[in-house]
Formats: sequence, C-alpha cells, structure tokens
Amino acid sequence: MRTFAIPGSLVLVFGTAVAPAVQAADGKAVYERTCVACHASGVANAPKFGDKAAWAPRIATGKDALFTSVTKGKGAMPPRAGAADLKDEDIKAAIDYMTAAVK
Ligand code: HEC
Repeated sequence: MRTFAIPGSLVLVFGTAVAPAVQAADGKAVYERTCVACHASGVANAPKFGDKAAWAPRIATGKDALFTSVTKGKGAMPPRAGAADLKDEDIKAAIDYMTAAVK
C-alpha cells in the first residue's frame, strides 16, 4: 500500500472551493435592520411601509431619484439612512423591497 502526502496548496484550493458564496443583497433584511426604525411608523414624516398614498408621488420620481435621496439624505433621513456600512446594492435592494410593498 502506498501513501501520498497531500500538498498544502491542494488543501487550500479545496478550502476555497467549499467556502460559502457571498450572499446577494437582501432587501428585506436591510429594511428590517436599518429602515424599519423610521419607515414602519412614519417617524418625522417618513413614508410608511405599505402606505400607497405616501409612496406613489415618490415612486413617480423614479428609482434613481429615490436612490439618491437615500445616499445623500433627505429631510430627516440621514445620508445612507445613517448606516455608513450599507453598500449601494443593499440600499437598492431595500428600496426595491419597500416599493414592491406598495405596488
Ligand atoms: C432616521 C429615520 C430614517 C431611516 C433610518 C430611514 N429613513 Fe427613509 N426617509 C425618512 C424620512 C423622514 C423620509 C422623508 C424625507 C422627506 O421627504 O423629507 C424618508 C424618505 C425615504 C425615501 C423617499 C425619498 C424621496 O425621494 O422621496 C426612500 C426611498 C427611503 N426613505 C428609503 C429608505 C431606506 C431604503 C432606508 C434604509 C436603508 C431608510 N429610508 C431609512 C427617514 C428615515
């Protein structure tokens, strides 16, 4: 019977292959972590989650405008909703989640 030494590099390559894939932006999770604080109850006139009348005129301005409002801040909403670690994709996913709820 013969034994083979497994080169360290082979182990490393295998380890990389089985590492969990990076998760795609999850709008619901971002909303529930960051946006819910103001948008669930409508703090400081934030358009409430699920309130069609409050969202319709904002959605009419287009997704790009909504995205800019969140990244730059608008009214009582701080830039990036106060969460500097949010990636652009996270913000877009959260906006998609919130606007999908009022379609
Ligand atoms: C500190 C409270 C607060 C948090 C947290 C917050 N918002 Fe807001 N948001 C507001 C307020 C207030 C407005 C209304 C701003 C205005 O029109 O004066 C608003 C408006 C918006 C609008 C409409 C912008 C427009 O152009 O009319 C979007 C889209 C939005 N928020 C998305 C988000 C998302 C996505 C998150 C989480 C990542 C979030 N908000 C977190 C307070 C908040």
